[in-house]
Amino acid sequence: MKKTKFNLDNLTIKEKAGQLVQIAPFFFIKDLKNEVYGSFVDLKLTEEEIFLTGSVLGIGGPEEKKAVQKAYLSRSRHQIPLIFMADVIHGCKTIYPVPLAQACSFNPNLVKKAAKMAAREALAYGIDLTFSPMSDLVRDPRWGRVVESFGEDPYLNYVFSKATAKGYDSEGLLSCTKHFAAYGLSEAGRDYNTVDLSRLSLLNYFINGHQGALDSGSSLVMTAFNTFEYIPATINKYLLQDVLKDYMGYKDAVVIADYDSLLQTKAHGVSKNDYDASVKGINAGLEIEMASSSYLRCLPSAVDNKDVSINTIDNAVNKVLKLKEKAGIFNNPYRGSREELDKLALSKEHKEISYNLAVESAVLLKNKQNILPLSKDLKVSLIGNYASSKRMLGPWSWHGNPEDNTSLKSLIKPFYTTDSENYLDVDTNEVKKTDVIILAIGEHDRESGEAHSKTDIRLSREQVDLIKYLKQLEIPIVLTLFSGRPIVLSEIIDDVDALMSVFFLGTMASEAIYDLLYGIKNPSGKLAMTFPRSVGQIPIYYNHLNTGRPFLDDGNPYTSLYLDMPNTPLYDFGIGLSYSKFEIDATISNLEFTKETLPTISVNVKNISDVPGHETILLYVKDVVAEISRPVKELKQFEKIYLQPDEEMIVDFKLGLDDLSYVHPNYQKYADPGEFEVIVANKVFKINFKEDK
Ligand code: BGC
Repeated sequence: MKKTKFNLDNLTIKEKAGQLVQIAPFFFIKDLKNEVYGSFVDLKLTEEEIFLTGSVLGIGGPEEKKAVQKAYLSRSRHQIPLIFMADVIHGCKTIYPVPLAQACSFNPNLVKKAAKMAAREALAYGIDLTFSPMSDLVRDPRWGRVVESFGEDPYLNYVFSKATAKGYDSEGLLSCTKHFAAYGLSEAGRDYNTVDLSRLSLLNYFINGHQGALDSGSSLVMTAFNTFEYIPATINKYLLQDVLKDYMGYKDAVVIADYDSLLQTKAHGVSKNDYDASVKGINAGLEIEMASSSYLRCLPSAVDNKDVSINTIDNAVNKVLKLKEKAGIFNNPYRGSREELDKLALSKEHKEISYNLAVESAVLLKNKQNILPLSKDLKVSLIGNYASSKRMLGPWSWHGNPEDNTSLKSLIKPFYTTDSENYLDVDTNEVKKTDVIILAIGEHDRESGEAHSKTDIRLSREQVDLIKYLKQLEIPIVLTLFSGRPIVLSEIIDDVDALMSVFFLGTMASEAIYDLLYGIKNPSGKLAMTFPRSVGQIPIYYNHLNTGRPFLDDGNPYTSLYLDMPNTPLYDFGIGLSYSKFEIDATISNLEFTKETLPTISVNVKNISDVPGHETILLYVKDVVAEISRPVKELKQFEKIYLQPDEEMIVDFKLGLDDLSYVHPNYQKYADPGEFEVIVANKVFKINFKEDK
């Protein structure tokens, strides 16, 4: 069967509407199991209508895909195959670090490679399109989904969404940028909560990640659960038409609702009933409805009632068919192969990329008296849940199996170990015989992710008590911190000698952690998200505005400050230590410039230690006087380099007009002439952008 073009006139209106509905595989084959929530519980479709739907959410492997596609095509009059979409977020069988950790690597090339490997496995698994990257900008670590994001910086979001989508695209796996838009701003960090922000913030900061993914060929855009300007994103014409299609220029991108979000517009108090929701959705530019079926049930009568034009439906169906064509499913509706999957899953090449990315994603935040790296001669106490737990894959890794991981215990071979985090269980006499304590603790792998928001993001009481107890033994403590978010560490930070944030590093987590602790590898990650001192500081992010009364520490109490805590976070965005020492100096070609003579900043980096290692140079810009208040600084470019001992390198950054531009109140993006600052490695260059005469 080879068909690429469809004459829409050959489809009935119900068949057309069916193309716009996505349901789960178990509706086609009843004994398949899956999680069912929301409107999936009662799809309100007849058996016949089920076989009119056009796409599938989630699949259990190549055999299941084949069975579902076969069952479908055996009953389909029009013979348009189903397209299979699923969440491959940070790997399919071989799992890579969680996206928040990936962003800390500051290595988009490696992230692209990981996505490429993930794509190979996903395609073999039977998946045609992945619901990744999640391009939401985040500012609140209470929100459980920060783990799926690339952090708090719009430029990093752009770069990593782009790299991820490119990796998928290079293997022919279609991708989806989500969640459009501003879901990362869920009020108070509570999932699915209200979002309220200005159009200028949206356009300057919150669409950048999506832009990156779409620039790299993402074909699908998933709407967000939240409202924007009081209208749910899923039926928000401003977002789906004005911003996505007109402002960003992605007219061909297909828009899909998030799970059940079309019918959730009833709970938002904006749709009267399913009919109303379906009319609002399709007219706003929502092409596919996920996990509910109102398009199939209601659009045919909506066309009769002239609430929706047949043109609108035809355009949407056309876009879906093009998506299917792009996925290659007309040529190969059964793509996927167990044999291929078995060959790829946990293959040497995939594990190597996973390991390399894990090594570069861990962030060393404290290293008192260079306690790290550890010498192999030291006697170690290894304490905490992650001493032997292999659950280091993180959320959204259900195709992977934690049992494939190695435990830290089996690599470190400690003198003394316990998984218990209760200090009463610790055998003090044994610990006292050791030279160093490695604590492998933090959040459980189910404490972050969707619907896993928390108000208290400190370590558990038991973990704090454990640290306080161990501190009294006067043996150095190395804290290896597992988490899906920044953790508030203020109450214990002075009690530990070293701190390495390892998030969830995936299949090769223990190997990477071991090699970093023992200096076989050198840490090089830098935080992509701020670690606050206290929950009370949230939202906290480095690229905030200055305010009219910034805190200047000059004794004036009437400034923007807290009575009980400094404004500064515990660990700022961009922080991360290395075992190497670098000397960095920078020069600039010219301080005054026009559009034609933008300056180049040359950064000289020298490794002045005897340890080879990576350094990442971050280049920030501050717009000193602009039409609107601008952030205190914004990351505009970065470069990660590797230097041998004594090696020296010059990194040139050519400043671009885009680095100085922002979206103005007239919704146009350009740079204001006048004063700017370029901030690089503790150096500040005051520069002046002159208007052309
Ligand atoms: C999530 C999406 C995900 C979808 C399908 C939703 O609950 O918000 O990110 O892609 O489910 O699994």
